[in-house]
Amino acid sequence: MPEIHGNVEGIRKSILDELMRWYDLQIPTDEFMPQDLLLQLCGYSASVNREIALYITRYGEIAEVIVGKADSVDLPDVRLRRSNRRLSMIRCIHTHPGSSGELSDVDISALQSMRFDSICSVGVDGEGRPTTVQAAFLDPAQEDGVQRTGLVNARKLPSAEWLQTILDVDAIYIESDTITGKTMERAVLVGIESQQSLEELAALARSAGAEPIAMVLQKRIKPDTAFCIGKGKAQELSLQCQALRADLVIVDEELSGVMQKNLEEILRLKVVDRTTLILDIFAARANTREGKIQVEIAQLQYRSQRLLGQGLVLSRLAGGIGTRGPGESKLEVNRRRIRERLTDLKQELQLIEKQRNLRRQQREKNEIPLVALVGYTNSGKSTLFNRLTGSDVYVEDRLFATLDSVSRPIVLPRGGKALLVDTVGFIRKLPHELVKAFRATLEEAALADVNVIVSDASAPELLHQHAAVLEVLDSLGATQARRIDALNKSDLEPPNQDTFPGAVIISAKTGEGVAELLDAIQNHLEDGMQTARLRVPFTHFGLLSKLHSYGSVLDQVYEENGVTLTLRAKAQYIKSAYKEGALPAGDELT
Ligand code: GTP
Repeated sequence: MPEIHGNVEGIRKSILDELMRWYDLQIPTDEFMPQDLLLQLCGYSASVNREIALYITRYGEIAEVIVGKADSVDLPDVRLRRSNRRLSMIRCIHTHPGSSGELSDVDISALQSMRFDSICSVGVDGEGRPTTVQAAFLDPAQEDGVQRTGLVNARKLPSAEWLQTILDVDAIYIESDTITGKTMERAVLVGIESQQSLEELAALARSAGAEPIAMVLQKRIKPDTAFCIGKGKAQELSLQCQALRADLVIVDEELSGVMQKNLEEILRLKVVDRTTLILDIFAARANTREGKIQVEIAQLQYRSQRLLGQGLVLSRLAGGIGTRGPGESKLEVNRRRIRERLTDLKQELQLIEKQRNLRRQQREKNEIPLVALVGYTNSGKSTLFNRLTGSDVYVEDRLFATLDSVSRPIVLPRGGKALLVDTVGFIRKLPHELVKAFRATLEEAALADVNVIVSDASAPELLHQHAAVLEVLDSLGATQARRIDALNKSDLEPPNQDTFPGAVIISAKTGEGVAELLDAIQNHLEDGMQTARLRVPFTHFGLLSKLHSYGSVLDQVYEENGVTLTLRAKAQYIKSAYKEGALPAGDELT
């Protein structure tokens, strides 16, 4: 349910009802701000003597109505999924009661941190009439990144021109994003653990579209409770960030709400922690509905635990037109909204999981063994999956290209089928929320008959990455499944097999070693299997196709009364074959 946000205390219900009606409006997409709405906005703003802000989407919907104080309004952050490189597709139009429409510095900083399509302020006179308006747009071509219009008469608001400016600016972003990457946010990385962990964070940051420009390591046994790093170090970092013209700071730890707030206050920059960064990447990459829901749940849960930090950031850095922090009631509203959304998402997820379980039961009934490709992110799982299945799963040289597990049947070298699943890439310090969120997907790995652990043999961090994968597999309770080590990318560097005895050396790219890998998979699947000679009478002909799914049919001969064949399968299937009408054929053939 939409509601009027902010400082609504003491406002007559009839006015609030009028404001609520705006949520039903459809604004023509060729109008920046219709004159009649502008008149109403100014009228109400003057009558309550408070600033009022509207968020209008590019599709002409009013996304938020927010009431502030006489000289300030807190703007809520509407970007659930932050894409720092694109505009938010929302313009913010707000009033300045009793003052001119000139944009303030805080307005401009709100434009920058919320990445509004445009921010526009409207001056309101004592009679509640609009006076002047001014708009600003983000524009990477400008020296300070902002394009400001002059102050114009509100009745002559240049609608078409301003809408066109939004589209032009958007086009610049898309272009510079894809062609030059110039608008990548400049990130300073800060850690307390190790250089190696920071290097990994740098790869993550690049994956999220940021450009790591410096790494700062302050080794500590545990994080400082107030700032994560020491306070003195934080002050030093602040100067460093200014000198480097950093856009944000990424911390290689999970930050508490307090730490985030304190750091943002001292650094005067957006601060993102490792988990938020990974969640952002996941959000951008999830393809299926299930994957998307899982990430959103994880994001909301993580965010709700840290509302304190987020809220204060909004009031100062992001939404703060004015200086007031959010009142307790606003936090409450946010929490409630998050709770409601979580309930909806969880219900939807449950439905999807039910369907997944049905599919799983079907598979188990048909007894198709499950082979899961697991491994560190970027190790080449999707490339291998494509080679083994001849399909075209998304392969990209970025982290976490695969977020949803995909499955396809493969035919094994000596006959028989298996279902191959490609899983989400693992990573050290995989955020707790994510393991939980992707549990259903990762369970495929836990339930697999064989786990193929794909490692990038050319990675300097091979051993650490391998250990991280084992850790995640263990935490999923996948210890029972048989494991095969596949050392991939052997075309880049011949791997040292001594470290991984029994590993299969492959190159998913060239295909080298892939046949051996398939053999190894089949050997593992057949471990504990028996070979039997069976005769299937023509009266039970239907059983024949079933036997092919029970295991591998090594040979079959058509005879007068039926088919004689050699079946290699688990003992229990051989038993069921007899039960279902197959006869022993051993003596007839020998
Ligand atoms: P996530 O989705 O992040 O888990 O990655 P992934 O493990 O599925 O890796 P993916 O298959 O997307 O491959 C990552 C990069 O490694 C791509 O650029 C591939 O082309 C490359 N790659 C994969 N296998 C090989 C290989 O055998 N040799 C070489 N040289 N490159 C490979």
